[in-house]
Amino acid sequence: MRVFDQIKVAATLASVWAAAAATCVPRDVQWAKLASKLSPSAKLYLPGTSAFDDAVARWSNLSTPVANAVVVPGTEHDVSETVKFANQNALPFLATNGVHGSITTLGKMTHGIEIHMSQLNSVQIARDGKTATIGGGILSKDLTDALWAAGKQTVTGTCECVGYLGPALGGGHGWLQGHHGLVSDQFVSLRVVLANGSLVTVDSKSDLFWALKGAGHNFGIVTSVTSKIYDLVHPNYAMETLIFSGDDVEAVYRTANEQWLTGNATQPVDIINWSYWFFDPTTDPEKPVIAFYIIQEGVDAVDDAHVAPFRAIGPIATQSQSGTYRDLAAWTGIDLAATPCQKTGNANPRFPIYLKQYSPAAQRQIYDLFRQATTNASTPYAGALFMFEGYSQQGVKALRDDATAFAYREDNLLVAPLLTYAVPSDPAARAALDARTQALGDRFRQILYAASGESTLHTYVNYAYGDETARAWYGSEAWRQQRLRSLKRQYDPQGRFSFYAPVA
Ligand SMILES: Cc1cc2nc3c(=O)[nH]c(=O)nc-3n(C[C@H](O)[C@H](O)[C@H](O)COP(=O)(O)OP(=O)(O)OC[C@H]3O[C@@H](n4cnc5c(N)ncnc54)[C@H](O)[C@@H]3O)c2cc1C
Ligand SMILES: *[C@@H]1O[C@H](CO)[C@@H](O)[C@H](O)[C@H]1NC(C)=O
Ligand SMILES: *[C@@H]1O[C@H](CO)[C@@H](O)[C@H](O)[C@H]1NC(C)=O
Ligand SMILES: *[C@@H]1O[C@H](CO)[C@@H](O)[C@H](O)[C@H]1NC(C)=O
Ligand SMILES: *[C@@H]1O[C@H](CO)[C@@H](O)[C@H](O)[C@H]1NC(C)=O
Ligand SMILES: *[C@@H]1O[C@H](CO)[C@@H](O)[C@H](O)[C@H]1NC(C)=O
Repeated sequence: MRVFDQIKVAATLASVWAAAAATCVPRDVQWAKLASKLSPSAKLYLPGTSAFDDAVARWSNLSTPVANAVVVPGTEHDVSETVKFANQNALPFLATNGVHGSITTLGKMTHGIEIHMSQLNSVQIARDGKTATIGGGILSKDLTDALWAAGKQTVTGTCECVGYLGPALGGGHGWLQGHHGLVSDQFVSLRVVLANGSLVTVDSKSDLFWALKGAGHNFGIVTSVTSKIYDLVHPNYAMETLIFSGDDVEAVYRTANEQWLTGNATQPVDIINWSYWFFDPTTDPEKPVIAFYIIQEGVDAVDDAHVAPFRAIGPIATQSQSGTYRDLAAWTGIDLAATPCQKTGNANPRFPIYLKQYSPAAQRQIYDLFRQATTNASTPYAGALFMFEGYSQQGVKALRDDATAFAYREDNLLVAPLLTYAVPSDPAARAALDARTQALGDRFRQILYAASGESTLHTYVNYAYGDETARAWYGSEAWRQQRLRSLKRQYDPQGRFSFYAPVA
């Protein structure tokens, strides 16, 4: 068995060797030596193969990382060996999984090894049914499905094709956060490969535990995590979709504020509301529509009390859906079949900001700008989407603000334009469009920030464009910045884990 596998690895290496030699792979890297240290189930891909091309393809074609080799570890030990090998050869490395990371800092990786985590995707439920040990390379849907089959669930990101840990390491928003908190709030312990390749267990006794829950991309590669899980008590869900004309933008968001966000109003734990703006010429040929989603847990129809104030505004169309928790991704356009799960070759930057409540006047200003950007004759942004995510917050706010490295428990809304565009093949045209998009994205964000009354920019690191500061990603309080920088000095003094939103 062992011999057979080694022959297989050797044959794979031989067949790609010629192709690799023709690229900019550092000439003296002994890939065969790395292969000899890996388990039989590990894979090593070099450029010139379709396996390599598939592994490095990404969701967003903007400022992407570049690798000379991809290792697909078969065991946690393989991750450790790969990091040690990279260090010995002065090669950068980067963990990848769902490939939806899109922060432009990733483009600073110009060569090295991608460690593609996809084979570490096991789920093992503990005998007491209170925790599960989850591989560091699982995708959200695969985790949800495995737990569901056992009558369990936990907080994960909402999009089916996104990694489970990518979101979690930056905090992690999901449908169940109103009950249980962020994805990372569920962590009990983690197996982590540190910058020097050593494999450690991190739990509440370690100072790294705090940092992994919000700034985790900076500190290690998580090979597995033991997380809290819960009995499945409310499998059924309902969603009401109301499509409004852009003319109603102030009324819609004034109503959202009154219903849920201002005065004594609070968003009930069983309600989530999202809205999207997009240009759909079949519904309105002149301007983007507002699609407002009210999602309720544990019912087959959304309570009329939640819908009536919005219906009174006069939507163009409404739709009622009912099903289970597992239908939510399809209803909101983020299931495996939906556009956000395809690699289209487009650049997909977002420009996020966290808010406490809506400013109807600012919503009007950004709506007018969005209309101008998405509907004029030669626009590259006809497919853009403005996202307003109003998750329930009780579970998030149940923890103190300083409980983890995630800095924005006080905020209520996650807002971001996704300015998707096809990339011109001419480099100068591409550079001009990238710059124009960044300027537009930052203009949207500036309008919302100015109306927010905040004195610092709050952004979600996992949606960030990449031009924000570490203070915007991780919180501006001096103690947060000092604590993160000091942990970085201790655990990653050489900045090996600094391609994704570096803390310093
Ligand atoms: C369509 C869409 C939907 C989204 N939905 C949500 C959502 O519901 N909730 C939410 O919170 N966020 C969401 N996000 C944002 C998401 O958190 C980030 O895009 C995240 O980076 C994706 O992780 P990934 O594994 O898919 O991507 P990758 O690009 O593979 O990974 C991103 C980064 O995470 C790190 N990483 C990944 N796996 C590991 C690991 N095992 N150990 C250490 N580091 C690791 C690496 O630094 C890597 O560069 C969404 C994004 C998109 C595009
Ligand atoms: C909020 O509730 C308190 C106590 O019930 C009440 O006195 C106050 O008027 C309410 N405020 C608003 C804005 O409704
Ligand atoms: C939906 O409901 C939440 C509950 O607070 C509310 O805070 C939010 O404003 C609403 N979300 C949106 C996107 O309107
Ligand atoms: C990304 O865009 C470039 C043009 O700059 C194009 O050549 C390339 O094929 C695109 N990449 C993918 C994966 O689509
Ligand atoms: C078209 O869109 C671009 C990009 O946002 C904008 O600069 C320009 O003013 C728009 N033109 C019109 C006529 O609205
Ligand atoms: C690796 O780094 C950790 C954290 O800084 C340290 O505790 C450990 O001793 C290091 N291991 C080796 C072999 O240097």
